[in-house]
Amino acid sequence: MPSPSDLLERWLDAVVATPGLTALKDRAEARRVLLDDALAGLELVSRFGGAIVDVGSGGGTPGIPLAASLPDRPVTLLEAERRKAEFLERWTPELPNLDVVWGRAESQAVESYGVAVAKALAAPPVAAEWCLPLVEVGGAAILWVGPSADAAAVAAVGVRLNAEPEEAPSGFIVLRKTGPTPPGFPRRPGVAKKRPLA
Ligand SMILES: C[S@@+](CC[C@H](N)C(=O)[O-])C[C@H]1O[C@@H](n2cnc3c(N)ncnc32)[C@H](O)[C@@H]1O
Repeated sequence: MPSPSDLLERWLDAVVATPGLTALKDRAEARRVLLDDALAGLELVSRFGGAIVDVGSGGGTPGIPLAASLPDRPVTLLEAERRKAEFLERWTPELPNLDVVWGRAESQAVESYGVAVAKALAAPPVAAEWCLPLVEVGGAAILWVGPSADAAAVAAVGVRLNAEPEEAPSGFIVLRKTGPTPPGFPRRPGVAKKRPLA
């Protein structure tokens, strides 16, 4: 089995070289955004147990760096675009804890994971609405966010979906699920974006 760092280097090369996966062409910048930023969430993810789902994994971040770093945790890469899901499948033979689901967050079975992570999936309130139904009670949705993210709007989505904000370092919003997914969620595919909760 190749070492995790060797695997991550080859994965980075492949993401940068494959058209349509990332706009980043500079290898150093790609490393910072796709790999280093993903691993900045490692300690946060480790606070919560159970299986991990990376919602809207794209070229595989943060899910692939997390899977390589947490070999005892099952990691699912959930991706709506078939071509991206096919790219992600290439990495499953090398990471026994990794699997890939081609589909939308809104169409998955609810409460199947301990942690849902999302980076650049959608506006944070929409990303929170998509992630929270996937998480078991006691688990968490962990969002990688930019400096302009509206934490109050995300917290308002949490109230609707039985989740509370937790302390998190800058660049992250964490919502811990405190009760079951309320009736009516997840809303039909596309509705969260068209009619955001907050
Ligand atoms: C901007 S990309 C970000 C990809 C990656 N997380 C990153 O940080 O580079 C957002 C991805 O989310 C996927 N996506 C959008 N809506 C989705 C949904 N409802 N369920 C699953 N995937 C979705 C898109 O196909 C796209 O690949």
